[in-house]
This record gives sequence, C-alpha cells and structure tokens, in this order.
Amino acid sequence: MQPINIILGDIVDLEVDAIVNAANPSLLGGGGVDGAIHRAAGPALLASCRGLGGCKTGEVKLTPGFNLTANYIAHTVGPIWRGGHAGEPQLLRSCYLKCLELATRLNLSSIAFPAISTGAYGYPLRQATEIALRTAMGYVEMKGSPEITFVCFDEPLYELYLNTSIRLKQDNRHPDA
Ligand code: APR
Repeated sequence: MQPINIILGDIVDLEVDAIVNAANPSLLGGGGVDGAIHRAAGPALLASCRGLGGCKTGEVKLTPGFNLTANYIAHTVGPIWRGGHAGEPQLLRSCYLKCLELATRLNLSSIAFPAISTGAYGYPLRQATEIALRTAMGYVEMKGSPEITFVCFDEPLYELYLNTSIRLKQDNRHPDA
C-alpha cells in the first residue's frame, strides 16, 4: 500500500505526477496556493484554464503542469466555510475523493494536496485536516495507490497533520477504543 506523506513546503516545487490547486469556480487564478501555482506554471496555465468553463465546488478539472515539474494540475474548488451546516464537510471530502479518482483513472503514481479551503475559504483547520486524512487513508486502504503527499505551508499546520495522522492510525488499530 502506497504511503501517505506529510511535508512542510511549497507545493509548486514537488516532483509528483500531479499537484492539486485550491482554486475558485472561475479557475482564472487568485491568491494563496492558486496564485503560487499560476506564477510557477506560467501564463499558458491561465490560457488553458480559460477553455475549461469553470469548476463547481467539490469538483475537479485537469490541466497540464506547463512550467511545473508536475505533469498535471488538478484544479479543485473547496467549499467556503459557512458554519458547517451547508454541506461543507461533504463538499470538502468530494474535492479529495474526485482528485484521487482522477489520479486512478489517469494511472498516476503520485499526487500532492494543499490544505484545501483552510486559507481564504476559512475552513477550520482541525476539521479540514481530519477530512483530508480520513479520505486519503480510506482511499489508499481500498485502492493501494496513488502515493499521496500533503504539503503544509506552515509549521502549525504541519504539526496538526502529523498529530492527526498518528491519532487516526491509532483509531484504526483500536476502532472501539
Ligand atoms: N504551497 C502549499 N500550500 C500553500 C501555498 C503553497 N505555495 N500557498 C498557500 N498555501 C496553503 C495555505 O497556507 C492554506 O493552508 O494552502 C492552503 C489553502 O489556502 P488558500 O490558498 O487560501 O485556498 P482556499 O482556502 O481553498 O481558498 C481558495 O483563495 O487563492 C484563492 O483563487 C483562490 O478564491 C480561491 C480561494
């Protein structure tokens, strides 16, 4: 079964088959990781995105990686946090799941995720981290691949991912604990 990696760093530098962009429904760029990916991939990315007709929340659209090391960029749109009773958890889970299903369809061996929706979209870190890790662990348990890397942009998030990952593995070993 492929490992799930947790690293501290900048997603644009990763040498993986696909990196995931936390985009907005227009797919025409923005700040945060979206801005970083567009800057690193170059102007051809925006031209490519213009032809995609946008992306719904919880869905994913694919482009080449252009100037990135990664071959592909999976653009997904996370939910804006509105208090947790507007389907945000299901939509966030869908972002991770649809990117993983796309990786399987394309027979990709590795994919890297940022912490979708936890920046401008305001998703509470603990809840978002739990959804990200549970979805990834469940998928890899079932499918055995791809190799997943969670890229944390700051130390506190990195610590949270590590601690949550340890707790979820213990829960899995002793589910009724
Ligand atoms: N590499 C990895 N992670 C990054 C990077 C980077 N270069 N830059 C930012 N991040 C992290 C943030 O620290 C945060 O943990 O990505 C996570 C998601 O934050 P945002 O980029 O703000 O994305 P999100 O909360 O999903 O909001 C999306 O913001 O940038 C706009 O166009 C985007 O409108 C959309 C909205």
